[in-house]
Amino acid sequence: MITLLNKASQTLCDWFSKADKNGPLPFDENFKCNMPDEVGNSAEDLFSEIESLLNNSFNPVHPGSLAHLDPPPLIFSILGDLIAAGLNNNLLAYELSPSVTLLEESLCKWFAKKIGFNDSSGGIAASGGTLSNLNALIAARNNAGLGSNPNSVLLISEDAHSSFIKCIKIMGLDAPNLVRIKTDNQGRMDINNLKKSLDKCLIENKKIFAIVATLGTTVRGAIDPIKEISEICKERNIWLHIDGSIGGIFAISSIQIEGLNNINQANSITINPQKIIGITKTSSLLLVSNMNTLEKTFFTGLPYISSKEDIINRGEIGIQGSRPAEVIKLWLGLRFLGLNGIEDILKSSIKKKDFFIDHIIKNKFEIYSGPLHIVSFIPKGLTKKDTDFWTQTKVNELKKNNYMLSRPKFKGKYYLRVVMGNYNTKDSHIKELLRFLDAYQ
Ligand SMILES: Cc1ncc(COP(=O)(O)O)c(C=O)c1O
Repeated sequence: MITLLNKASQTLCDWFSKADKNGPLPFDENFKCNMPDEVGNSAEDLFSEIESLLNNSFNPVHPGSLAHLDPPPLIFSILGDLIAAGLNNNLLAYELSPSVTLLEESLCKWFAKKIGFNDSSGGIAASGGTLSNLNALIAARNNAGLGSNPNSVLLISEDAHSSFIKCIKIMGLDAPNLVRIKTDNQGRMDINNLKKSLDKCLIENKKIFAIVATLGTTVRGAIDPIKEISEICKERNIWLHIDGSIGGIFAISSIQIEGLNNINQANSITINPQKIIGITKTSSLLLVSNMNTLEKTFFTGLPYISSKEDIINRGEIGIQGSRPAEVIKLWLGLRFLGLNGIEDILKSSIKKKDFFIDHIIKNKFEIYSGPLHIVSFIPKGLTKKDTDFWTQTKVNELKKNNYMLSRPKFKGKYYLRVVMGNYNTKDSHIKELLRFLDAYQ
């Protein structure tokens, strides 16, 4: 077993070491998806297939990998995944994961306290931001007593993540039950528009079960005005959920981020460390100000499992039943970095964003960014058709030069987007990237 584990580590390290030469895109395009044979395959065959799988994969380690919220993995987080797989404990219940249950509970509590929640707070891990948001919205609707009310609505900004469309569908609601609030010219939810929409809902007898404030929008990293939204939620007794999938982690640092305040006024917040500090996927958390809300929503009694008094079976406070011990990689990654290490990564991502914006030729580009580490941009003065063509051409040219940027569709047009979350990217790479774009000043 040890020989095989060593060989697996060596294979992975060999792949990482090729990253600098080969770039973020798959090195090969010939992966064969072989299915199980009658007789099991030899270790030799399997390792050759593993190698092929790796060579046909996206490589987030390369410094030119700047397209998405998928940073290089931290070594201790990789080890955490290995240990979690080896343990094969199950977060469904305490008896199937005694130490890890306590670890998840404690880590959620630690995060909750760090962002300013009080003693009744806590949280639950889930496989990604989408599921954390969904856990929150189901709890919010249940808390409002609107479990089966087809008239219940959710309010989000027009720039909020597309996963809310899925959430509404899963919750059995129709598209009009998702009310989208206009954003201002900085991409933040417009408060006047929010108030008007709330009044309209009242007139139409719609029941609002939650308002979502986004802490870091996907295309430009904008932060909705959390303080104002939280006051409105308090006045009208509406659940405030913060989608902090991108920016939430900044709240545990001392970095001053404009608009990142009052988040402890929320009922729930999604934090997704996999998106920036290199915790391996998936490692999203939903934090709630009051753990009772999760228990009341998801408790079933779990009749086939023995329970221990005073310990909540973690399968009883969220949508997922059986769940791997993902918290190990989050815990080890955070312990490895320490608060200073986390802060260094976050600070450097903002510095790189600033460097990019300082050096892009301003009069040539429309630039969409916010206080976080994401920038979307297009050349000024082009028609929609020419912009679409320019973005596609540039994405392709950049790929040939080992830079991977994304091309999000935003308000009907394509943009180029750069995400400065890769801690292997240096200022020299940013300069080179801007030169390839004919945009360096
Ligand atoms: C703001 C925001 N919320 C939610 C999500 C969904 O997260 P996940 O892909 O981890 O489910 C994303 C994904 O990029 C996001 O940008």
